[in-house]
Amino acid sequence: MKRIGMLTSGGDCQALNTAMRGVAKTMMNSAQDVEIYGFLDGYKGLIYGNFRIMQNSDFSGILTKGGTILGTSRTPFKLIREPDENGLDKVEAMKQNYYKLKLDCLVILGGNGTHKTANLLREEGLNVVTLPKTIDNDLWGTDMTFGFQSAVNIATNAIDCIHTTASSHGRVFIVEVMGHKVGWLTLNAGIAGGADIILLPEIPYDINKIVEAIQARNARGSHFTILAVAEGAISKEDAKLSKKEYKEKMKNYKYPSVSYEIAEQIQKRTGIEVRVTVPGHTQRGGSPCPYDRVFASRLGSEAGKLILDGEYGFMVGIRNREIVKVPLEEVAGKLKMVDPDASIIQEAKMLGISFGD
Ligand code: F6P
Repeated sequence: MKRIGMLTSGGDCQALNTAMRGVAKTMMNSAQDVEIYGFLDGYKGLIYGNFRIMQNSDFSGILTKGGTILGTSRTPFKLIREPDENGLDKVEAMKQNYYKLKLDCLVILGGNGTHKTANLLREEGLNVVTLPKTIDNDLWGTDMTFGFQSAVNIATNAIDCIHTTASSHGRVFIVEVMGHKVGWLTLNAGIAGGADIILLPEIPYDINKIVEAIQARNARGSHFTILAVAEGAISKEDAKLSKKEYKEKMKNYKYPSVSYEIAEQIQKRTGIEVRVTVPGHTQRGGSPCPYDRVFASRLGSEAGKLILDGEYGFMVGIRNREIVKVPLEEVAGKLKMVDPDASIIQEAKMLGISFGD
């Protein structure tokens, strides 16, 4: 008999249900008896003992369902060692619930913050297997996270839709793409959507270069320009500031996000009308794309196999198209960023895309 606990933590994304179904089906199809405890709303469920025993039927019909059937929440890692408002030791509480239910393993689906806590639980002696979810694709140790390709599709679609209206009106359009502190989503959606300028956190921009690129397009007879701007994009001047100085500056920041600041600067310098579109959380919503359905199913299946074999302490990821197990201690606390010298950036530049640098 294998008794496993399952939870999804952090921001949701597409294919969370697909991945859980993959784990459950693989284990239920094996010769071993399986009991699955679904903890509700992320680590909170494990801390406060909120769970439900999952039936086979819970995992039916969820391959294509967006969101997470278990619910999710953010439990910041920096607060995990701090007692809650009633003085409860959260880490101790998670361990107690794990032992009370006599679990063999926890299956944890999450992104960066989630992996730090998962690794801490491993260090505390719990058996843990994790799966890499996030539209940001910023988890170390895996070439790709599930949710990412679905989000690329949605962000690309947003840019595609903007294309027609931008060309009709001869305007500059900015599409702000999610991705937190990294530019994977913007880079891929930007290239796929034919953006003329792509701004990433990893390549700080110079507003003069952006204006030059817009004017060069106008001079060539293209009277509209589309910018794909990562929500974490940063100017060259701001990138030079220390963390403290930047934080201080942001206290008096008057724009809703960086795109609006860039829009104002472009409009002032060129006199061209600029509009900003923010697809926001739509990028995390809806049904997973076929790539993510296959990918998350494979990850889930391999995670199920690891647990059946009694192999714990790993994140299941993908490298060079092969599903691999990566020790949790190698993953936790590291960010996978876009390399500004990567060939994809050079190729995009050869296509005529400006990165504002
Ligand atoms: O990590 C996924 C993500 O969607 C980021 O791209 C974004 O910065 C953040 O979560 C938004 O968080 P929230 O859903 O808490 O607003």
